[in-house]
Amino acid sequence: MEIIVCPTPEEVGRRAADSVLAALPDDRDPVLGLATGSSPLGLYRELGRAVSEGRADFSSAYGFALDEYVGLPPGHPQGYHQVLLREVSETVGLPPDRLNVPDGSGRTLAELTAGARAYEERIRTVGGVDVQILGIGANGHLGFNEPGSALTSRTRVKRLAARTRTDNARFFETIEDVPTHCVTQGLGTILDARRLVLVATGSAKAHAIAAAAEGPLTASVPASILQWHADTVLVLDEDAAQLLTNRQYYDDAAEGLG
Ligand code: GLP
Repeated sequence: MEIIVCPTPEEVGRRAADSVLAALPDDRDPVLGLATGSSPLGLYRELGRAVSEGRADFSSAYGFALDEYVGLPPGHPQGYHQVLLREVSETVGLPPDRLNVPDGSGRTLAELTAGARAYEERIRTVGGVDVQILGIGANGHLGFNEPGSALTSRTRVKRLAARTRTDNARFFETIEDVPTHCVTQGLGTILDARRLVLVATGSAKAHAIAAAAEGPLTASVPASILQWHADTVLVLDEDAAQLLTNRQYYDDAAEGLG
């Protein structure tokens, strides 16, 4: 695991974008795994800048969202499909018809489960995710894999934790409007991506980051699966990194071989 601690949130966006761009193939259509939330916004802005400077091109890329709420009406502005159209497709020039989002519109568990299986199949069809961009929940969740999620889980329906609904209530009028369920890529699905790039800023994430990076590998902290992946990059600001105990080593290692 590579841990990069940056002095400013802007630098977090730049370093994370560099880690994403370095892992994209140039001999086939790149496949990006996309996270919602405020954490990756600076990274998306930097990818947009790379496009405008001619250093990147997402016009033939595929995007696959980590998760989607169940039960929001189609076109709801807080549905992750709409969020990613606004925050990623427009910013980096990823064609909307190449943006894939789990289907949260099923009315029964069977319909939602069939949609989740089809989603896994679509990821396989394009050759798998090259780089999965991730944020982290304050409770250590990845995507919407709440504490207790199986470490080998695949895309499926999950109940949202009370903490997650409270955290996400800011996007809705009232807490009752926050959906209770979601369809999320599983931890096993996330682990299949060839590189994982997780972005976290702010002290509210410090506990989750320390537990994910330095605690035991456990379903109680879903983000601890990052330790299991052979190519994980964590890009943090000082506040998110403040509880890491092995910090000096990360800083030394980030200097490279020079
Ligand atoms: C939601 C998303 C996660 C994201 C998390 C953190 O719960 N499903 O993928 O990591 O929010 O959001 P933020 O970056 O805004 O703190």
